[in-house]
Amino acid sequence: MRIVVLNGSPRETNSFTYQYLRYIETNFPEHEYVVHHIGRKIKKIEKDQVYFDSILKDIQAADGVIWLYPVYIQLVPSQLKRFIELVFENNKQTYFKGKNATSLSTSGKFYDHLAHYYIQAISEDFGMNYSRGYSAEMMELMKKDERKRLRKFFLQFVIQCENKTTTANYYSPLTFNYPNYKPINIEKQQKTKNYKVTVLTDATKSDVSLNNMIDTFVKLMPCEVSVVNINEADIKGGCLGCLNCAAENICFYSDEYMDIFKQQIIAADALVYAFKTKDRYFSSKMKIYLDRAFFNGHRPVFMGQQQAYFVSGPLRQMPILREALEGMSEVGRANFVGIVTDEYEDSKKITKLIQNAIDGMLWCIENEKYVSPKTFLGVGGHKIFRDLIHTYQIVFPQDYRYYKKEKLFDWPKVFFGQFSIFLKPLMRIPSFRRRFFAMSGKYQTRLFDRVIKKEVTEKTKK
Ligand SMILES: Cc1cc2nc3c(=O)[nH]c(=O)nc-3n(C[C@H](O)[C@H](O)[C@H](O)COP(=O)(O)O)c2cc1C
Repeated sequence: MRIVVLNGSPRETNSFTYQYLRYIETNFPEHEYVVHHIGRKIKKIEKDQVYFDSILKDIQAADGVIWLYPVYIQLVPSQLKRFIELVFENNKQTYFKGKNATSLSTSGKFYDHLAHYYIQAISEDFGMNYSRGYSAEMMELMKKDERKRLRKFFLQFVIQCENKTTTANYYSPLTFNYPNYKPINIEKQQKTKNYKVTVLTDATKSDVSLNNMIDTFVKLMPCEVSVVNINEADIKGGCLGCLNCAAENICFYSDEYMDIFKQQIIAADALVYAFKTKDRYFSSKMKIYLDRAFFNGHRPVFMGQQQAYFVSGPLRQMPILREALEGMSEVGRANFVGIVTDEYEDSKKITKLIQNAIDGMLWCIENEKYVSPKTFLGVGGHKIFRDLIHTYQIVFPQDYRYYKKEKLFDWPKVFFGQFSIFLKPLMRIPSFRRRFFAMSGKYQTRLFDRVIKKEVTEKTKK
């Protein structure tokens, strides 16, 4: 079998993920492995058509394709995303058609599922037969049982390649038939309020709807808005995963990135991410921006910020991106104000939605920076980060200090506290257990009653 491996890690052969491939190669030497270090070579691939074509030809001649990648900010690294964009831009999907494919990733298991869903959706767009991938926690290879699991995974994939197994499609092809958003008679509001509001965008001149959405927002917002266009900023490249930043939260690149992040993004009371979708996510350019935020570590620095998203493109058909956006706000402890897209026939409706977003942001800022409660996306994300920072406190000392100071090591407390010492043995007695559950409804209600009454009293006092 000839397996082509597309390695998305910018760390090339030093990468964690690559060691998983080495393990497979060592255990299954009967197969041929053709590895392309996409993450490291993306600039060359972009510039050198002959090199790009040689990768495509290898894919065409393969019996199977493995997408090998670390999870970077809920997706694959910007470099691998760019490679996928190049395939679409150059209309080269046919090179992938009919191939069996799968993913092999490493991560801290934070939103790894979204990276896998994305690669599956893209594989389907390329006409491949995609089998469920393998998502490893980065150090898992050290465990015997996990190595066994990895061998089994690979064996199954080989069988699928040999049989040219047809797999089910999870995603429909994307369609988009809406007209450009063209607002009329938008009156510029007096700038009476003094909040810091930023729009972060990668809009180009040809993105008519997106530019109009930003323009409408800037006019209707009753305070000054700074628009940061990352195409115009000095951002030298994507994150290389070097972890030089981990100790002091300083990125090795010397460019404008950290200044923009600290002064325009974190410092804002309200932030709008405005972008056009590219394939099934936002652009690799925007992804560069997000990956580079890793310099800041795992600290939820957006506490109390109002965040909205203006999206041009078929977001309703992109559950992966939608979940990423909501998750991003929740994990950052920002308030997810909402998403405005241009998926409407009627431009007036889009203008109203932009106005709603503005009203929502202002109301929340003026109501003690209201943040809606977190769902699984934020709660789960926090717990994973908390455990990760605790485990890797030597690697991320700044994060560790921050988590301690902000009391983010919020380990679970035992229900009933110290009474549980007595209750645990008693709960093994069936008659006690029956009585306990019979009483528990009443007890709970009484508990809540007290609090509810207290709140009502406070309100009447005011
Ligand atoms: C820029 C950056 C972003 C990351 N984002 C995530 C993430 O969203 N979820 C996660 O579980 N791990 C994340 N990680 C951790 C990596 O996925 C993990 O360390 C991986 O094993 C690195 O693999 P590599 O050495 O092959 O590049 C991130 C690491 C970096 C450098």
